[in-house]
Amino acid sequence: MKQTILKKIHRLVKEFYRIPSSKFEPGKTYIGISAPIYDYHEANHLIATLLSGRLSLGPVTKEFEKAFSEYIGTRYGIAVNSGTSANILAIATLLEAGELERGDEVILPAATFSSVASPIIQLGLKPVYVDVDPLTYNLDPNEVRKAISSKTKLLIIVHSLGHPANLSELLRIAKHYKLKIIEDCCEAHGASYKNRKVGSFGGLATFSFYVAHNITTGEGGIVLTNNPRYAKIVRSLREFGRFSEDIAPSNRFSYYDKYLKNYDKKYIFERAGYNVRMTDLAASLGIEQLKKLDYLNQKRRKIVSFFVKYLKKYKDFIQLPEKLPDYFHSYYGFLIVIKKEAPFSRLQLVKYLEKNNIETRPFFAGCLPDQPGFRMVPKRVVGNLPVSRWLRDQAFFIGCHPAIDLDAQKFITKVLQDFLEKHTLKKRFLKNL
Ligand SMILES: Cc1ncc(COP(=O)(O)O)c(C=O)c1O
Repeated sequence: MKQTILKKIHRLVKEFYRIPSSKFEPGKTYIGISAPIYDYHEANHLIATLLSGRLSLGPVTKEFEKAFSEYIGTRYGIAVNSGTSANILAIATLLEAGELERGDEVILPAATFSSVASPIIQLGLKPVYVDVDPLTYNLDPNEVRKAISSKTKLLIIVHSLGHPANLSELLRIAKHYKLKIIEDCCEAHGASYKNRKVGSFGGLATFSFYVAHNITTGEGGIVLTNNPRYAKIVRSLREFGRFSEDIAPSNRFSYYDKYLKNYDKKYIFERAGYNVRMTDLAASLGIEQLKKLDYLNQKRRKIVSFFVKYLKKYKDFIQLPEKLPDYFHSYYGFLIVIKKEAPFSRLQLVKYLEKNNIETRPFFAGCLPDQPGFRMVPKRVVGNLPVSRWLRDQAFFIGCHPAIDLDAQKFITKVLQDFLEKHTLKKRFLKNL
């Protein structure tokens, strides 16, 4: 009986999603920097989980963890409630494992999102901000070399906006100086370097499934690792610091130690942990989203090619994403950086786009040590961070997600072209004299 009703619900949901969404209207339809792309597959999986009575972490989350870690190419995946939580657990795991100590230095890019740095600070480590490369916008290996001191123990590699970092060089440096590595892949689902997925290179990797990202579970994240000891600690930290979340019934009351003896193992806490679990409801979305990731990324790449095709003639004034060999970009967003030759400001262009209902975002925190919450915190800054400050002042991105259909792509390029034609006409004319 229940199965028959469930089938009917699934059919109705499918019908619901068959109704086409309203047509794009130039200047009227809002073009956000992101849009969750999901349909009846996700909705029906979520409903089935809900009706099965599984609301918290359970078998569906485990299935998602297995699928996602296999997709990236790691042995273990531990799903959590956000990318920020994933970053907290990754660093806390290295502390718990005795591979980091309070006061150690952690290298990270200066130009990135706040929650790359905040767990470092919250967990009593010292951030060392390093400048980024002006083409990939990721850690510049030469700057990383300059940053290393006897206290440096961890390198956090962020693959910003879906562009993989220079992993060959960064891994070489980490090996030479015996640094631990965390890859922050929160903006880089499905990106790869030399045909290997980002997230499979370091000791630990983190992803976010927030609604703005290439695939989503609403809110969510995951920690990946190949190291069984790290995986055990991450799992324990995710759930109050518990002994283990998977206890065979035969083992539940077995002897633990001379203090707790045969105490229920579900209530043995081996460390001070958190509660940052993913729910089976979120994981239901994740399982279906993952099946579409490669397809969605290909669509993003096509949209980016379309934008570049029509904007490349303005390359004297704006820097557009470059396709570099070895790097498979997953394009979280389409970044435009205003060059110093441009006879217009970022503010002028951003305001023009927003007026036309095209949403813009700065390059996340711009230059993190310049942000009010990070200025006065103990830190080390390597050099003057010219590229990070250039991004802080001159960069912004717009969406390039698959919900931007051909009409919307044409509209975006037209709006940009209109602005650029008008503002660069004189300069282009003088150049050609
Ligand atoms: C590089 C980076 N790390 C971490 C996060 C945090 O992820 P969440 O928003 O899921 O907490 C983000 C968020 O977008 C991010 O861009």
